[in-house]
Amino acid sequence: MEAEELLGRVADWDHGSGHPSTRLSVALEAAIADGRVPVGVRLPSERALAEVLGVSRGTVVRTYARLRDLGAVHTRRGSGTVVGAEQRRPDRASQLAGALSSEGSLAFLRERKADTIDLRAAAWLGNRGLLRAMSNWEPTDLPDVGDSDNGYWPLGLPALRRAIAERMTATGLPSRPEQIIVTNGAQQALDIALTTVAGPQDTVILAEVTWPGIQDLLSVRNMRPVTVPLVDGHHVDQLALLRHLREGRSAAAYLVPTFDNPTGAVMPAPARRLVVEAAREGGTILIDDLTLSELWLDEPPPPPLGVVFPEAADQVVTVGSLSKLAWGGLRVGWLRAEGPLLERLGQIKTVVDFGSAIPSQLAALTVMRRLDDLVVDHRAELVRRRAALTSDLAELLPTWRFVQPSGGMSVWVDLGGVSGDAFAATAERHGVWVSPARVYHALGQDTGHVRLTLTHDVETTREAVRRLARAWDEHLARDRGRRIAIV
Ligand SMILES: Cc1ncc(COP(=O)(O)O)c(C=O)c1O
Repeated sequence: MEAEELLGRVADWDHGSGHPSTRLSVALEAAIADGRVPVGVRLPSERALAEVLGVSRGTVVRTYARLRDLGAVHTRRGSGTVVGAEQRRPDRASQLAGALSSEGSLAFLRERKADTIDLRAAAWLGNRGLLRAMSNWEPTDLPDVGDSDNGYWPLGLPALRRAIAERMTATGLPSRPEQIIVTNGAQQALDIALTTVAGPQDTVILAEVTWPGIQDLLSVRNMRPVTVPLVDGHHVDQLALLRHLREGRSAAAYLVPTFDNPTGAVMPAPARRLVVEAAREGGTILIDDLTLSELWLDEPPPPPLGVVFPEAADQVVTVGSLSKLAWGGLRVGWLRAEGPLLERLGQIKTVVDFGSAIPSQLAALTVMRRLDDLVVDHRAELVRRRAALTSDLAELLPTWRFVQPSGGMSVWVDLGGVSGDAFAATAERHGVWVSPARVYHALGQDTGHVRLTLTHDVETTREAVRRLARAWDEHLARDRGRRIAIV
């Protein structure tokens, strides 16, 4: 806008008292507010306006500065002073807030309600005596932390890496201690694996319905999912998965072949070999999430991906954790890999946090020593809870369909065309929290499922099913089930 034209729109600027710069800025502010000087207009240069108004250039400089402070104008190098607040790029934190699932699957991390049975987290409640066991440390339990140690072990305490390698070897994946990197839970292991092998805008293959923590990580790291549909709402579509892996367009594939969360599905051994062969062909890195693999309830699962096709072992990153075996509060998990990939994972872990906290690793070491007993205990408890949950569901909610999981900590229920979101809301009013399908679905779809966990003892689980049955009756009566279109 030329200086003369601007003057025409603030003709009475010189009325009143006060410093000229104050009067001019008050007049301009009013003209901007009522639209006489519209947003987006470029104001005249300070020199040109000063000449037309008959004031010093300094007066106009002060006026523009005041308007800037008020957010009424902004100045950009090369484009002068422009009316309106600067259009900033939408800030990353707000963009992310919408994408993350903290409102859904991860809500259990921050919400607690005494009178509501929470069937959302698949976790052991209480530390089950672990804290007491941990407080009985002896100096001999601290083999690597002597007086001359500075406490920085970026890849993990050697004794814990040894213990984890032995455990992996005993459970079907021969491993050396140098292959293990201790992390803050499986979640950090996944983050490190992703950031090591993929960059912003890269794609990562994953099942359409899977552990939502991976979906959040992709959002945070600005990566994009390539989703593989499920067959029968349960198993990953094998042919589609193999095709994506062979194509080699994605940097990595994230898989939970052993007791998937939430479906509980297990990928059969022959399929595992095909998957690793296909990844080899396409040069795709496989991330095998074994977080739940030791929680088999009927028979040991097929071998992990890292062992089924030795020629491709250097393309597999294996992730494990103590969260589902012992206690999530330990925040101890691990990565296992080979060759150059192992080295790069170690570099990323090192720069991310210089290593996981030593007290937690010592606690984990104590737990590892009694893990055999603990896991046997946990399996027996989960078998009891599974029996209670599935038999009560069959009796009280006979239209619900589910495949009895052969391991893991959850049951994936098909509501038969009723919206998972809508039913989860009704269930909450009846004192049970369940997770609807949408939070596990990479595209946020409501497929008419809910996930129920085996987190509570038998008695509480039974009470939860009774409440769910009451919620279901009310839900059907009120909404006629609010059907969803299942695609
Ligand atoms: C499949 C899967 N991966 C990773 C995680 C994260 O586990 P952690 O608590 O060890 O970070 C979970 C937790 O529920 C999970 O179910």
